[in-house]
Formats: sequence, structure tokens, C-alpha cells
Amino acid sequence: MRIKELLNQRFLVAMQAAGIPSECSPTLALGGKAQFGDYQANGAMAAAKRLAMPPRELAQKILDNLDLDGIAETLEIAGPGFINIGLSNAFLADSLGEPKAGPARDQQTVVVDYSSPNLAKEMHVGHLRTTIIGDTLARVLEYQGHEVIRQNHMGDWGTQFGMLIAELEEHLGEGEQAALALNDLEVFYQQSKKHFDADPEFADRARAYVVKLQSGDQHCRGLWQKFITVSVAHSLEIYQELNVGLTEEHVKAESAYNDDLDTVVKDLVDLGLAVESEGAKVVFLAELADKNGNPSPMIVQKSGGGFLYATSDLAALRHRVNTLKADRILYFIDARQSLHMKQVFATGRKAQFVPPTVSLEHHPFGTMMGPDGKPFKTRTGGTVKLADFLVEAIERAERLMREKNTDLNETEIKAVARKIGIGAIKYADLSITRTNDYVFDWDAMMSFDGNTAPYLQYAYTRIRSIFRKADIDPETFSAPIEIVAAEEKTLALKLLQFDEVIDQIAADCYPHTLCAYLYELASVYMSFYEHCPVVKAGVPEKTQHSRLQLCALTAATLAQGLDLLGIDVMEKM
Ligand code: ARG
Repeated sequence: MRIKELLNQRFLVAMQAAGIPSECSPTLALGGKAQFGDYQANGAMAAAKRLAMPPRELAQKILDNLDLDGIAETLEIAGPGFINIGLSNAFLADSLGEPKAGPARDQQTVVVDYSSPNLAKEMHVGHLRTTIIGDTLARVLEYQGHEVIRQNHMGDWGTQFGMLIAELEEHLGEGEQAALALNDLEVFYQQSKKHFDADPEFADRARAYVVKLQSGDQHCRGLWQKFITVSVAHSLEIYQELNVGLTEEHVKAESAYNDDLDTVVKDLVDLGLAVESEGAKVVFLAELADKNGNPSPMIVQKSGGGFLYATSDLAALRHRVNTLKADRILYFIDARQSLHMKQVFATGRKAQFVPPTVSLEHHPFGTMMGPDGKPFKTRTGGTVKLADFLVEAIERAERLMREKNTDLNETEIKAVARKIGIGAIKYADLSITRTNDYVFDWDAMMSFDGNTAPYLQYAYTRIRSIFRKADIDPETFSAPIEIVAAEEKTLALKLLQFDEVIDQIAADCYPHTLCAYLYELASVYMSFYEHCPVVKAGVPEKTQHSRLQLCALTAATLAQGLDLLGIDVMEKM
């Protein structure tokens, strides 16, 4: 049950009884400071304005009609007409005893397009954000009970592949195995590019291969398939290492839409949306005109007949609507592709590929910067391979573990270092407002203090150790909660707000709210733990059990929240 929702319902009833028009909202917010109550209803002011009434008087009228028996302990009007709500301890205790909220009411089919690297090259740090932000949203929506369809729209088509398969052909001709030749995709790409620039005969062959590939030539397709297989396998390894839920079944690469591209363009032409311009087929979008009034052009077919990124995105849109039956389609792509997404969405709507009931959402994000304030690069200015980056994170975590002198054995250190290293990277990214750029800092994100993954993982292990010491299994432990101390109340309320936070993220797709919540939960827990002894001598058993129950719920909520971020917890560290 969401407390906020319950309050909202009760307020709406009271407001109606007070003669307030139904469009007026109670506008509930968290109390912020203790003296403002646990929640605050701010809607009386706006309603009073509409009714031309003194706001405090109207607030009183709402209170006269408000039934929060057994829910609120204190209700007071403050300032110009705020209503402060102090929840009752018994209500909070009972609510915590109830089973967790069920699935979201209106279950939707949600397509989540994320990661989607280009297969011509190896995955690099630039792919990190889309991969982990998208994965978090997929997990959050699944947690809410929605049907989530992950789509990895990998770039596996286009002119670069002519060059790459011509290069691969030469390697295979020399008796090399594809897997070996492509062992380092980055090196392979550079090699073929060099080859292409230096050798006109090779370049001609590469260009011819692009055409052959597109017309379905068996030999070229075979080479291409070999290349793609190796490259996809590389990405899948990274996903595993990153603890990201993308597998082979989610791969729906650009080439999957090849057969539909002709039809997409034909349909756009028939609808009068795509027109001939300098031999190409172009959709001109007046709604995205620049400041001089020039409509925004989106090419869907080149003069030579070739199709583009936009064409496959339009085909993908149709597939997602018609075949996957999406109610909502989310794209996690770099902010630099905002115009592209706007064009695709606008065209998809105008062509009625997408009915108005389907929500199309591009959720952009900023760039990960190096300490120099420029996009994150290697020391020599190259792109950082994601695989190397993950290795470094794990190595750094391992070094930290050893410095800390843990009593873990070798195998445990390795396992824990992996969880800390990967967790730290993901959390550092997810805890920043998605749309902002952020400066990447190894030391800050690996710190055991502050808003970091290691801090939360550590908080979790500390709670679990209480249970080990008391020789109680936290999974099966269950006791009634009684709330007496202020710290107990604050913790209880925080725990109950988890689902409200998740609702918000499912709607606006900003995962940093969950990080902030978990960090606050850990802090609130710490002060509870300081003020409310749990397993000390002299604590009455009933109190001890109630507090242990709060501890167990905190650990479970931390683990659940971190799991939604794709971060593992451990028993010891
Ligand atoms: N492959 C593209 C890139 O690396 C991202 C694709 C994103 N998804 C999409 N449907 N356009 O830039």
C-alpha cells in the first residue's frame, strides 16, 4: 500500500465534501522537516484561490471533513494554509506488517530499447550509460508487474561492414580462424580502416561488398555473419560481467528490419510524407523547423537506394507497435541523438505507424567525463574499451579489500571485489541526475563513505551480521513491530516509502531517485541503530524483536533496491 495514495484518496473525499471542485488536487508532498509532519497537503491554497476564500478557512473546512482515523495522529494547519499530517505510530507499525504492494494496477507492455551498440567496433565506455540506465528501468518496470520486452537494437548494418568483411576474407584466406582474427575488434577495425585508406583495390572491393551484402550475396552474407557472431558474443560477455539482463534473445539488430525498409519508404511516399529531393527520399518535418522556419529533413532513402538509420528505426517502431504490442516504448540513447528521435517519433505519428495511445519516450542522458572535464578517454586520448574498464574496476576493488585487511579467504575476496567494483561503477552513474554530465572519479565511487555502492553494500552486511551474531535467520524471522522512539518512526516511514519511489522512477525514468532513497534509508537506519539498542542486554524481548524486524526489513529493502539497480549484495566484506 502506498501511504501517499491512501492520503490522497481520503483528502479527495474531504475536499469534495468541502465543496471544492474535483479538478483541485490535494497536492501531497513529503513533510521534509519533522515539524512539517510526515506528509503535507498543499492543495488548499490553490483551491481557495479558485473559490475566492481565505485559504486557512478552507483548509479548516477540509480538516472538518477529513477522516484519517487510525492513520494520522496529528493534523494541523500551518502558514498560509498548509495541512501537516503526522502519521500514527500504530498505523506505520501495522502497515509494515502487511504484505508488500502487489503489481501495478494497469499492467502495460513496455519495450525498452537500450545498450544497442554498433557491432563494427568493440563496446567502449560510451555504451555504459545506456546499458545500465536502461537495465535499471527494465528491472523497475518488471518489479512493478509490467510485461517488459528488452530490445537491443544493435548496429549491424551499413557501409562499414563492406570494409570489415573484405578484411576478414583476407585473414580467413591466410588460414586464420574468424574468432582469432576478431579477438580484438578494435585492432581489427583499425587494421581494415588502414587497409581501406592505403589500398584502392581493397577499397573498391570493400565498396562492392557493401552492395553485394545488401543484395543478399551468399559469400558476403557468410562473412558478415561470422563477424556479427563474434561481435555479439563479445557484447554478451560484457553484459554478464556487468550484471545486466541482456541476452541473445533480446538482440533485435538493425538488419532484422531489412525486409521491411522498402515498404516503410513506399508507405511514406504513398502517404505524401516522404518526397523526392536531389534523388533521395526525404521526410520534411515542419513541426521541427529551425528558427528560420526551414523544416527539419530526415532522409529515409539515399539517392543510390540505400536506407538509413532513420529507416530502420521507423521499421522497428512498427514492429514494436504491431508485433510486440507495446503500450509504451522507451529509448535510452545519448542526448546527442535527440533530434533523430524527435524526427522518428514525429514521422511515426504522422504516418500512423503508432497510435496515439502508445507512448514514445526518448530518455536522454549526459556524458561521462574524465577528471579533465572532457569525455572520458585513455591517457593517450583513445576510447576506453568497456572490457578493460570493468577489469580495472574489479582490480581496484580487490586492492581496496586487501588494504582493509578483511578476514575473507582468496575466493571470497575475488567474488566480493567483483560485486564492489561493478557495483561502484554502476552506482556512480545511476546516482547522478540522468540528464547531467558527470565527472568520473575512481576514488569517490569506491569510497566506503557517502552516497556510493560500497557504502550501501557495507550497510547491508552490517545488518546481516547482527543476525549472525544473534543466531537468527533474517529470512524467516518475523515479529510484530512497535514504534516508540522517534528514530523507529522515521525508519518505519522510510521503509514504507519504497514503492512510492519506484512508482516515480517507473514514470519519469530517473534512477537517481532510487539511489538517493537508499542512501537516506541507510542513514536513517544508522541513527536508529545508534539510538535504539537491538541485541544489548536489558532490552526487553518484545522490543528487541520489533527492532530486529526493522533491521530485517531494512536489509531486505536495501537488497531489493540495489537489485533493481543491478547491484549485488554480499554477506560479508
Ligand atoms: N546503435 C546506435 C548507436 O550506437 C544506438 C541505437 C539506439 N536505438 C535506436 N533504436 N536508435 O549510436
